[in-house]
Parts: sequence; structure tokens; C-alpha cells
Amino acid sequence: MALGLLWLGLVLLGALQTEAQDSTPNLIPAPPLLWVPVEPVFQEQLFQGKWYVLGLAGKEFDKEKDSQLKMYTDTFELNEDNSYNVTSALAWDQRCDHWTKIFTPNLHLDQYTLGNIERYTGIQSYTAQVVTTDYNQFAILYFKKVYDNQENIKVILYGRTKELPPVKAIFIIFAKFLGLTDEHIIFPIPNDQCIDE
Ligand SMILES: *[C@@H]1O[C@H](CO)[C@@H](O)[C@H](O)[C@H]1NC(C)=O
Repeated sequence: MALGLLWLGLVLLGALQTEAQDSTPNLIPAPPLLWVPVEPVFQEQLFQGKWYVLGLAGKEFDKEKDSQLKMYTDTFELNEDNSYNVTSALAWDQRCDHWTKIFTPNLHLDQYTLGNIERYTGIQSYTAQVVTTDYNQFAILYFKKVYDNQENIKVILYGRTKELPPVKAIFIIFAKFLGLTDEHIIFPIPNDQCIDE
């Protein structure tokens, strides 16, 4: 696993350097999902349970505006048909908000598609892919959403605890590989409300 991760880091680093030489900054389109590295053998069972959202990257996030964003959790529960119920828990004012999305497996390994998509106004497609995980410490997931004909990508760094795992650096490299800059990479603030239940 550690070797696999190192390999991923090196490939991404190589890609970054190639891009740097290319001198075409900010013109990087969202890569097709198949270009994104995937976990060789994804074990759905082991991936279940609670994950803390430790890092978020995407055009929708802003380092300044979202500087107070609280850490939240996503809990994955596997259904018999291999889809996941993913329940988010987030502290909002004095309340706890919970909502569940269903992700169904795609044709390709470790790719998932948002279920009941007709319920989400304006969303034309929404795919999730596990980039890397060791199941008991960290995971990096890549999301691609088409909303009002606009493609939007997001990367989540998950941890089993609130501590940032050593793969934080790989999460950042990966986000930059996708064309995102530091302004669009945020690290939600640890808190105890709602997420420790
Ligand atoms: C997932 O959610 C559905 C619909 O709310 C529910 O019927 C099902 O029992 C849930 N599955 C698990 C494993 O919790």
C-alpha cells in the first residue's frame, strides 16, 4: 500500500512538472474519470463506516470565504446491491444536520454514480471515484459533477480520525494536478459538535 501511494505521488508530481513546462496555465479541463488513478482492488466492505472530512478542494471552495467551515463527517453503509448510503453529519448553528445520498457502483471499478439523481435539481451527472485509501487511516475521493451543463470537480481528503494523515501532501498535489490552486483547497476546522456521535 505504501509503495502504491508513493507511486501515485510520483506520477502526480511528474504530471505537475510536465504541466509547468507546458506554459498553458489555467486551461486544464477536468480530466476524464479514467485518467484519474484508482485503487487497484477496492474493498467496499472495509471502506464502510465514518470518515471525517479533513480536506476539500474544488472551484466551489474559497480559502478566505470558507475559512470557518467546520469539519463534518460522511458515513458509508454498504447495501446488499453494493450501493452505499452516504450520510453526512454537519453542525449548523446549534443544530446537527444529517442527509443521505446513495451512490451506486458504476461499470468501472470503484466508480460510483449518485442515485435518485432526478431529485437533485439541475444535476445532470455526478460521479465519485476512490483515488486511494488504506481503509483505516485515510482516503482521497474524486467527484465530478455536471450541473447546468457545467463541469465541476471536487476532491475530498477523508480521515478515520480528526488528525490530518501524512497523505495531506498527496491530496494537495492531486488537487493541483487537476488544475486547482491553493485558494481552492481548504481544511475544515476540527470540532466536536455532531460528528462524534
Ligand atoms: C439505505 O437507505 C435506504 C433508504 O433510506 C434504507 O432503506 C436502507 O436500509 C439503508 N441501508 C443501510 C445499509 O443502512
